[in-house]
Amino acid sequence: MSRKKVTVVGAGFVGATTAQRIVEKQLADVVLIDVVEGMPQGKALDMMQSAAVEGFDTEITGTNNYADTAGSDVIVITAGIARKPGMSRDDLLTTNASIVGGIIEQIVPHSPNAVVIVVTNPLDVMTYLAWKKSGIDPKRVIGMAGVLDSARYACFIAQELNCSIKDVRAMVLGGHGDSMVPVPDYSTVNGVPITQLISAERIEAINTRTRNGGAEIVALLKTGSAYYAPASSVTAMVEAVLLNSNRILPVCAYLTGEYGVDDFYCGVPAALGTTGVQKIIEIKLNDEDKQALQRSASDVLALINKLSLV
Ligand code: NAI
Ligand code: 2OP
Repeated sequence: MSRKKVTVVGAGFVGATTAQRIVEKQLADVVLIDVVEGMPQGKALDMMQSAAVEGFDTEITGTNNYADTAGSDVIVITAGIARKPGMSRDDLLTTNASIVGGIIEQIVPHSPNAVVIVVTNPLDVMTYLAWKKSGIDPKRVIGMAGVLDSARYACFIAQELNCSIKDVRAMVLGGHGDSMVPVPDYSTVNGVPITQLISAERIEAINTRTRNGGAEIVALLKTGSAYYAPASSVTAMVEAVLLNSNRILPVCAYLTGEYGVDDFYCGVPAALGTTGVQKIIEIKLNDEDKQALQRSASDVLALINKLSLV
């Protein structure tokens, strides 16, 4: 049986690390594509040589030619510029919109049945733009942010309680911006909500640190932004799609009235499988979190309007 094929667009920090995780987990063969000549080829060759040591049979190739991406099952878009200290994700808007729009036009005709996972920031707007430009079923175009933001939340919860991260399930909804919504009621340690384990004051501090999770790393790195946890998060989504596992993950999904959001993208829990979003999961939120999600969705819509996309 032939192996699945994943194209990762953008061979920078997030793209290359995602490609590495996918081939090392033997989920699919990977095509790594970038505008910079030689760089994706060099990184792919380096990773291919690691196969002898790591012991994976999947293959990775680097290219600058979209014809090589033909027949991909999943396309991951990480191309664009990343944040520098002091920049918000939204500052990246115009530059990355033109990069992502151009990529969609070139790549979708080669893989019309692929599921597209957008990573480029500002995430919710780029996902909406990718869908609009692609003309494909919105269920097939999704964005990665909630898995990362929830992973950060889980990390901080485990550190607070000095417990195993394996027992923590954390949930962050909304847009991938400063108004994202950590949801303590549905964040648990082995089924026990953190509201029963951590004081309200400490939960608020952890929520704030989660909302600033990306900026905290940008400030430390000084050039560029996070990529290890982002790559793990994209890989979890790629795996759910390729294995048709129906995993419920917080993803940036197209909504048609769910959570009061109509005709644009926002981060919500959804079941992922071969066709992308199989189902949006509507959970009951308390009034505070419901209002916070509305505010976050409004922020996404305001940015979409800045690009005159609606
Ligand atoms: P990077 O600068 O290391 O890599 C970006 C790559 O895109 C570069 O290799 C560049 O040559 C390439 N590129 C630029 N224009 C291109 C085009 N037209 N076609 C193909 N490739 C092109 O940046 P990094 O750290 O990999 O971040 C990538 C993006 O992902 C940024 O927008 C960043 O903000 C975003 N990001 C989003 C996250 C999320 O949770 N959604 C998490 C982490 C990063
Ligand atoms: C992050 O959250 C920059 O969006 C990226 O790390």
